[in-house]
Amino acid sequence: MSLHPADAAVLRTGRLLLRRWDPADPADVDFLFDTYSRWDVQRFIGRVPRVMEDRDEAIARAETWASPVGGAPFGVWAATLASDGARLGSVLLKSIPASGPTEPLEPSGDVEIGWHLHPDAWGHGYATEGASAALAAGFASGLDRVVAVTHPDNVASQAVCRRLGMTALGLSDAYYNATCALFELEAATFERPGTSGNAE
Ligand SMILES: CC(C)(COP(=O)(O)OP(=O)(O)OC[C@H]1O[C@@H](n2cnc3c(N)ncnc32)[C@H](O)[C@@H]1OP(=O)(O)O)[C@@H](O)C(=O)NCCC(=O)NCCS
Repeated sequence: MSLHPADAAVLRTGRLLLRRWDPADPADVDFLFDTYSRWDVQRFIGRVPRVMEDRDEAIARAETWASPVGGAPFGVWAATLASDGARLGSVLLKSIPASGPTEPLEPSGDVEIGWHLHPDAWGHGYATEGASAALAAGFASGLDRVVAVTHPDNVASQAVCRRLGMTALGLSDAYYNATCALFELEAATFERPGTSGNAE
């Protein structure tokens, strides 16, 4: 597998521009804080969901997400509208930790795709469109399989998985020391939903 760090910093689709979060941009930080301080967003995220309570947490998150961990195409993108730059949420492509007895959890060797949109951006197909660009970048960089883990009750997220053509594998305890509804997608079967845009 060969990964090319510079290739995936900016991704474009028909409607979206995905870019890195910028901790020096107060509007990015405000948006992250507004998004992750909402229970509607956080309720299915993490083993013990909690809302962000302090703007400093949003700064720290923007700093962490500004640079991909593990080399691109891994990273967390700010999904924005290409037309006016409006922020919609985050799209994530990252190493996923295995369940295990010690913290921090060890990498599983698998890669996960994820999406967290501000509620104002739900219901427009933006998560599916943004994630498809990240998947295309990941597969183009040599990944052969990507998984998604969702809270068993998170039907909205499971619908995104299905729209992306991911296969439901049922409940799994393999990751995060949590029971998740697991989905997978193999590079060989990936077909980008719609063909309105390309990763650059
Ligand atoms: C999970 C989450 C991203 C799903 O968002 P979403 O907007 O429902 O998902 P999509 O972007 O795929 O949009 C699909 C919806 O947009 C609608 N839509 C409208 N215009 C559309 C278009 N042009 N193209 C595609 N879909 C469109 C679809 O009909 C669908 O709505 P429906 O489910 O009511 O039928 C969102 O609920 C969220 O951010 N939740 C909080 C964080 C979270 O739980 N993340 C997942 C952790 S595993």
